[in-house]
Amino acid sequence: MAEFFRGRRLRRSAALREMVRENEVRAQDLIMPYFVVDTEDASFRKPIGSMPGQYQLSLQEFEKQVDAAVGNGLRSVLLFGIPKAKDAVGSEGYADDGIVQRAVRLCKQRWPELVVITDVCLCEYTDHGHCGILRTEGDTVTVENDATLELLARTALSHVRAGADIVAPSDMMDGRIQALREALDAEGFRDTPIMSYAVKYASAFYGPFREAAESAPKSGDRKTYQMDPANSREALREATADVLEEADFLMVKPAGPYLDIIRMVRDQFDLPVAAYQVSGEYSMIMAAAQNDWINGDAVAMESLLGIKRAGADLIITYFAEDLLARGLVQ
Ligand code: PBG
Repeated sequence: MAEFFRGRRLRRSAALREMVRENEVRAQDLIMPYFVVDTEDASFRKPIGSMPGQYQLSLQEFEKQVDAAVGNGLRSVLLFGIPKAKDAVGSEGYADDGIVQRAVRLCKQRWPELVVITDVCLCEYTDHGHCGILRTEGDTVTVENDATLELLARTALSHVRAGADIVAPSDMMDGRIQALREALDAEGFRDTPIMSYAVKYASAFYGPFREAAESAPKSGDRKTYQMDPANSREALREATADVLEEADFLMVKPAGPYLDIIRMVRDQFDLPVAAYQVSGEYSMIMAAAQNDWINGDAVAMESLLGIKRAGADLIITYFAEDLLARGLVQ
């Protein structure tokens, strides 16, 4: 029996460390979100203040940026739209010539191999900023679940008709996976997968995104439809429901503060698991890096590795484009 365990034997050289490395972040694991704006100004490219390095882009600027990213090895995008006009029922969200629908057509035309995922939700398109339609009774305003389902299904269908490879509902209405699946099947899109934001918490980490997507609720919050950050068993109920409704991917969101949930979902289900490293997670790393308080590249990579180690197969991250551009992920 040796005196004690000498862990450093397998850490002696970079080559040895690589041989025993258990997890890695690969180009095909990453999905890059984009914010596309419906505007006549072809050169529109507006920095998102709270997300250094991220922009709201016109369709033309989006094309340039994705072209470079695809050249650098980007495999998949997640699209968000910022419409010209918002209304109570989010009609621009399911308009055939809506901004996301146009962005999807462009992507499929320009880069047929790129996996195009669309976020399906109404909050960027409603004038009140909620993810569904509202019902007012006396003084109480509620987000109406069942009436919203039909509009979400219409949105998903319009994305798929435009050529989306995968639809990703992020609204957290109950029954939405079933509603989308039925709508897609009825139109012959039986083979189009649904990536469910199955376990989505009512998180303060979405703050910067709401600036980026101009989707902050005008009043109230999303706590009646998104999950309570204190709960983990509830994550299993949400994921189970979506599996029964035939989701093809399960997503956990946010990622970093919910690694235990990623691991639990990974262990309990056999579907591919995606994790969304959300805007606030990105912004915190960027802010500290800009102050030289941390090494931004190293922390970004470590955060992604942690998410993979927790069990995620795929990561939606605002770091994707830059890490690929600089060869930090291959
Ligand atoms: C839309 C949606 C949100 C995010 C993705 N889809 C915001 C929200 O639910 O308020 C957050 C993404 C991020 O913070 O990066 N419902």
